[in-house]
Amino acid sequence: MSVGRSERWIPAAAVLLLAIVLATGCAASVKKEKKETVRIGVTLYDQYDTFISELMNCFSEQVQEKQNSLGVMISLEVMDAAGSQSTQNDQVKTLIEKGCDVICVNLVDRTEPTTITDMAEKAGVPIIFFNRELVAEDLERWDRLYYVGADAFQSGTMQGELAAAAFQSLKGADKNGDGICQYVVLEGEPGHQDATVRTELSTQALIDQGLELEKLGYAIANWNRAQAQTKFAQTLTQYKDRIELVLANNDDMALGAIDALKAAGISREDWPIIVGIDGTAVGLAAVENKEMYGTIYNDKEGQAEAMMNLASALALGESLDDLKIKDGHYIRLDYKTITAVGEASDSGDFLVTR
Ligand code: GAL
Repeated sequence: MSVGRSERWIPAAAVLLLAIVLATGCAASVKKEKKETVRIGVTLYDQYDTFISELMNCFSEQVQEKQNSLGVMISLEVMDAAGSQSTQNDQVKTLIEKGCDVICVNLVDRTEPTTITDMAEKAGVPIIFFNRELVAEDLERWDRLYYVGADAFQSGTMQGELAAAAFQSLKGADKNGDGICQYVVLEGEPGHQDATVRTELSTQALIDQGLELEKLGYAIANWNRAQAQTKFAQTLTQYKDRIELVLANNDDMALGAIDALKAAGISREDWPIIVGIDGTAVGLAAVENKEMYGTIYNDKEGQAEAMMNLASALALGESLDDLKIKDGHYIRLDYKTITAVGEASDSGDFLVTR
């Protein structure tokens, strides 16, 4: 039987096709296509929160550095949920639809991550939660959920130790000389892990340092300077010069207390000892000019860098081995204690005491 022209052509074409498939398939397995653009979405619980906005400035710097070091274009989209969890859920949906490779979520309500994690898992987009810590069970629901933040327990203990050292060493700290430290707490948002834990552990550390305490009052001021000023003004009216120590869950609220002391015309030497947490630019300035005794530095640079390294590794499918991820989900940065150099010095530098 003679072989027709078309029948001879078919095996030749098949061989050619096979060669092409093998060649391209081979190339793909040897060299993975390099991603040209990494898309990172971010949604914030409140873009006007002082610490969060400073953290985001650091993150933007990290984006620039990463672009330069990796030679990859990074497109960053930041959204503000303005305190609404349902707005934030919609934002995550939009960011997924826009093709983000990874989304960083500063949860509005740390007890409500489920809508976000379900959407992300369905779309296969990893999520880096940061700053507002969700409970472990929620984070463990999918292996591509992460948390970057600091250890709230550490900040509370360090603040209490700092306050104890101040109360024990500063002349006139015990204003009425009764040997008891009369104090007021300014608390962050109810239900926020940092607020609850900082309040509890800072007072515990004061007790552990041998101080006898009398709590005159506490006020919830939601991390906010203006709210803290209003609330602390009321406390001042009630307790006048009896307050010896103000433990503020963050610097902005410590500054609110300072605003209230100034507005009430109380002279500087009659102010209570005031300690904050965060080390924001305004907080550090208040430590430098000795209005605030000290603060506990919330390492925004370290957190931004950890978020960026994790985000780019996830987006590019690189190894996470060097990122110091604990229990498969957590990256935590340490706090530092900050006071002005030597209490009597005017140098304006900062002493990292721990
Ligand atoms: C805390 C910080 C506060 C506030 C809060 C927002 O870690 O100390 O100042 O920014 O986060 O979640």
